[in-house]
Amino acid sequence: TTERSLVLIKPDAVSRGLLGEILSRFEGKGLVIEALELRTMDAELADRHYAEHVGKAFYPPLKEFMTSGPLAAVVLSGDEVIDVVRAMIGATDGRKAAAGTIRGDLSLSNRENLVHASDSPDSAKRELALWFPAL
Ligand code: CMP
Repeated sequence: TTERSLVLIKPDAVSRGLLGEILSRFEGKGLVIEALELRTMDAELADRHYAEHVGKAFYPPLKEFMTSGPLAAVVLSGDEVIDVVRAMIGATDGRKAAAGTIRGDLSLSNRENLVHASDSPDSAKRELALWFPAL
């Protein structure tokens, strides 16, 4: 079934000049870019986007990082796109992510891990409404 996923190409990816490479992997896979916008997360959006993590020990530095500069907010669509994109980005920790995944190939960090993607249909629905309310 065709679905949509909300993907954030994080500030580390933009500042490292990896935006093109990461978008290229998604395009090469055959996923469709339905929306794409450079945005800088503010504190309020960070708290809403990461509501389930507010209060965790890793949240303050995560928030600092995610609001530190522009990121690319992307809506991708395709057959089973939510699971397909999760597989393409790999495990959260770039040091442990499998080679061949975006994080496995390009990140060495548990926090600055280049990409966020919706992890379920429910989170996709919530995150798409948060980032692209008009879509
Ligand atoms: P993301 O997929 O955006 O979801 C939550 C983010 O928190 C995660 O990617 C990482 O950037 C960050 N994160 C998760 N766990 C940790 C951790 N243990 N230490 C530091 N950052 C983390």
